[in-house]
Amino acid sequence: MLLLLAKEGAKVAVTDIRDKDGQKVIDEIKAWGGVGGFWHLKVSNEKEVEKVFSEVEKEFRRIDVVVNTAGIADQPNTPTHELTEERWDKVMAVNVKGVFFCTKHVIPCMKKGGGGSIINILSISGIISGPGIPAYHASKGAVRLMSKTDALLYAGENIRVNSVHPGFMWTALVRDYLTTSGLTLEQGRNVPNEAHPLGHPGEPEDIAYGVFYLASEESKFITGERAGYRWRVYSKIGSAIE
Ligand SMILES: NC(=O)c1ccc[n+]([C@@H]2O[C@H](COP(=O)([O-])OP(=O)(O)OC[C@H]3O[C@@H](n4cnc5c(N)ncnc54)[C@H](O)[C@@H]3O)[C@@H](O)[C@H]2O)c1
Repeated sequence: MLLLLAKEGAKVAVTDIRDKDGQKVIDEIKAWGGVGGFWHLKVSNEKEVEKVFSEVEKEFRRIDVVVNTAGIADQPNTPTHELTEERWDKVMAVNVKGVFFCTKHVIPCMKKGGGGSIINILSISGIISGPGIPAYHASKGAVRLMSKTDALLYAGENIRVNSVHPGFMWTALVRDYLTTSGLTLEQGRNVPNEAHPLGHPGEPEDIAYGVFYLASEESKFITGERAGYRWRVYSKIGSAIE
């Protein structure tokens, strides 16, 4: 996603708690002649968020787009009555509070710049429920409503807020989730295959193009929307309710 945005001419600030991986993305962007920088950031820490956003604004003079993508899954899959407060809080701290802090601290900057686009990477789990991962469902559902509220709050300032709701994308997060659910990787690979109408999980670039559209001027009339990636109600992983 970041590589696509950089290729299309965006100056990209990559932030993550994984310094090596973040720096690798920046090295790749720079190797193409792109512009970007890496900042270490734990999104659940408001002081760090405030500091990093002000440094990024100083470096690039403005911030036009924020993609809130930091997220964690709650593993292993545990029903509500067995879930500890500590695990609930851990998921909420990154998936909900992190989006809140990053939104809060970019809004003044976008107001100064005359507008912007905030893109929250949520999940199909924030639209439909299923019999599992309760904290993850709650976190992604909460931010769907935050996205709509912020879309309405800041529409007058030309700041758009949209959310993206992937099904299974073949990333480390999904591989970990599947294997800690007691499935082998091979069995796991078949679950997402059968769960999606197109018969296979998505790739990160499938999300990247959606994000690119929402970041661009071509989507200037789109706010409060959700971009969904359809999920077939699938009996083997239980029922799902929209
Ligand atoms: N992969 C999927 O199938 C899928 C499906 C639906 C939604 N999502 C959502 O997409 C987003 C990206 O997921 P992914 O699959 O690329 O997973 P990933 O694990 O590859 O990426 C998540 C990133 O968030 C970072 N992160 C975790 N905690 C952080 C914190 N406190 N502060 C800053 N960064 C932190 C991680 O270091 C990692 O780089 C997540 O919000 C996830 O919930 C993914």
